[in-house]
Amino acid sequence: MGGLYFSFLIALLLSANVEASYCSNEGLQTVRNISELTQDNYGRPGLSHITISGSLIHGFKEVEVWLQTFAPGAHTPIHRHSCEEVFVVLKGTGTLYLTTTSHTKYPGSPQEFPIFSNSTFQIPVNDAHQVWNTNESEDLQVLVIISRPPVKVFIYDDWFMPHTAAKLKFPYYWDEKCYQAPPVKDEL
Ligand SMILES: *[C@@H]1O[C@H](CO)[C@@H](O)[C@H](O)[C@H]1NC(C)=O
Ligand SMILES: *[C@@H]1O[C@H](CO)[C@@H](O)[C@H](O)[C@H]1NC(C)=O
Ligand SMILES: *[C@@H]1O[C@H](CO)[C@@H](O)[C@H](O)[C@H]1NC(C)=O
Repeated sequence: MGGLYFSFLIALLLSANVEASYCSNEGLQTVRNISELTQDNYGRPGLSHITISGSLIHGFKEVEVWLQTFAPGAHTPIHRHSCEEVFVVLKGTGTLYLTTTSHTKYPGSPQEFPIFSNSTFQIPVNDAHQVWNTNESEDLQVLVIISRPPVKVFIYDDWFMPHTAAKLKFPYYWDEKCYQAPPVKDEL
């Protein structure tokens, strides 16, 4: 009985420790192997997300970098955010849907842009967009850089949903785990 309680306590301590080191840059190796970083689908089938460098995880203030892989048919929601965003397509092909009419009441029919390996695109602040792996056989992999993390995402059910009805998702799925962590001191 005592032994069982003891192992439970050890397990609890270990998990608390793992949690603490995941949400902190302390002890972070200078050079890290991306294949060994935490990846998860955060409840979205067909997605693999890795926060390579983050604000809530690593205490960065100006930029955040993600590596995302979309299986055939997988896609982001239709969404907007008030940060700058740059994509670099590392592998695969797909479609970018983008509206540049943020002055109207709703996004409206998006423009479609084919995206391909070694292509890049940037998303203007607050423009509604969606990235979709429209290839039926190949993964789409992108490196994503955003400014002003942590990201505040407004999600639309469809392209004709009013901007004011878009649902705020904050903290975003991959930021949830570290959101409660105390702010990281950035002064020397
Ligand atoms: C990076 O990690 C992967 C998966 O663990 C491993 O196969 C690979 O050898 C590592 N690369 C280096 C240079 O250590
Ligand atoms: C991407 O484009 C750059 C510039 O032309 C080139 O040097 C690089 O080899 C390309 N990479 C791939 C994976 O095609
Ligand atoms: C899907 O990916 C394959 C493999 O790269 C490519 O040959 C094919 O043209 C792509 N299909 C579309 C619809 O882009």
